[in-house]
Amino acid sequence: MPVDILVGTQWGDEGKGKLIDVLTENVDVVVRFQGGNNAGHTVEIGNEHYVLHLVPSGIFRPGVKCVIGNGLVVDPIGLMEEMKGIAARGLDLGVIELSNRAQLIFEYHKRADALRESGAGKNKIGTTRRGIGPAYADKMHRCGIRAIDLTRPDRLEAQFRAEAEKYNKLFAEHGIATLDIDAEWALLKEAAAYLAPHVCDTVYSVNAAIKAGKNVLCEGAQGALLDIDHGTYPFVTSSNTVSGGACTGAGIAPQHIRDVWGVIKAYTTRVGEGPFPTELFDESGEALRQVGREFGATTGRPRRCGWFDAVAARYACMVDGVNKLAVTKLDVLDDLKEIGICVAYDINGKVTKEFPAAADELSCVKPVIEWMPGWQCSTADARTWDQLPEKARAYLARMAELVDSTVAIVSVGPRRDQTFRVI
Ligand code: GDP
Ligand code: IMO
Ligand code: MG
Repeated sequence: MPVDILVGTQWGDEGKGKLIDVLTENVDVVVRFQGGNNAGHTVEIGNEHYVLHLVPSGIFRPGVKCVIGNGLVVDPIGLMEEMKGIAARGLDLGVIELSNRAQLIFEYHKRADALRESGAGKNKIGTTRRGIGPAYADKMHRCGIRAIDLTRPDRLEAQFRAEAEKYNKLFAEHGIATLDIDAEWALLKEAAAYLAPHVCDTVYSVNAAIKAGKNVLCEGAQGALLDIDHGTYPFVTSSNTVSGGACTGAGIAPQHIRDVWGVIKAYTTRVGEGPFPTELFDESGEALRQVGREFGATTGRPRRCGWFDAVAARYACMVDGVNKLAVTKLDVLDDLKEIGICVAYDINGKVTKEFPAAADELSCVKPVIEWMPGWQCSTADARTWDQLPEKARAYLARMAELVDSTVAIVSVGPRRDQTFRVI
């Protein structure tokens, strides 16, 4: 019966894909519950490197059902290509279900995303340009098109054409290229036919699995600091990335939830614009980027890097209710002599441990840094807590104390086997 949720506790790219793959060893169903193909979840198995955008990261475990829940915005052409790409690498797609209630992303959403970004000047968000914001906006405006219509091509065509024409007027007003609606429809029709057999009422199937005593794991995308309510608004994504989003985005009632896994990088990264109090602009930031290979899995953009921000992560763990921390990328800190942790914010002379709501306040934060000694040896081969150098254990213990949670898993490299449980 238990349902566990796994979420990112920072600005995304904490290593959620890897952790889902690891935890799925003992899971029957993995459910994505929000976001879209803005996500890039990396799983490394042996020498194989996979990046998933919409397909849940449980796909590499035979027999695991992978569900794309009602809370997502799904680019049907992107999903078709992703599924074909996985199959082309010789993997069995197994059972993939797509919620009939999920919203669809079309080419016009991507163009509207790009239009908004290019006209926004200093208010640019640095989105992935996958059409996420416009698709969620259409959902809230109640003019979105849902995945159920992939199974009803006539209705899909009529709705798509009507919406595309509205967007074309907008594009013409802004002097940008309009869509060739016939050509777009031809692509969409093919994707609809490919995906239709996967569309079903996942709320019933997930709840039936829970009732049958199966283990269900909900896979978050992005991270708490990109959450539409709790993140660094407006420099956020357009969905609820926090654990609460799993209930609405998968159709699971709160009393079924057991553990909330918070994936937390041993330092901090961010892609795109927006405040980042511990960002490093010197060679330490560059070292984190190079050693941690911090380049976006979806867009290839270099990730901004900085010290672990305990103020932001503590807020995230509180809202998420994280009772199990999975700390990733500890190995990236191996060579450092000293490691910084931000324990408080100095905002115009006032010191606080609370994460401010206003982005403009966050952007003038001076981080209060506590220094911890580095361990200066490799952790990549550690497979138990005791095999970690004492200073690394002290660092992890301090992270856990500051965010008021417990370290349950430590990850010391990108591969499946470079992970161990602490509790
Ligand atoms: P996600 O979006 O949260 O799934 O994270 P990404 O896949 O975008 O980024 C995490 C990156 O770190 C990927 O390239 C992973 O292969 C890699 N990774 C995950 N865990 C570890 C780790 O413990 N150590 C190192 N060095 N790399 C890791
Ligand atoms: P995973 O699941 C990191 C960021 C974008 C941008 C902001 C809004 O791999 O952790 P959007 O395209 O969602 O409208 O962009 O959110 N962003 C991510 N950053 N990891 C992600 O996903 C992200 N998904 C979106 O860079 O700043
Ligand atoms: Mg990612």
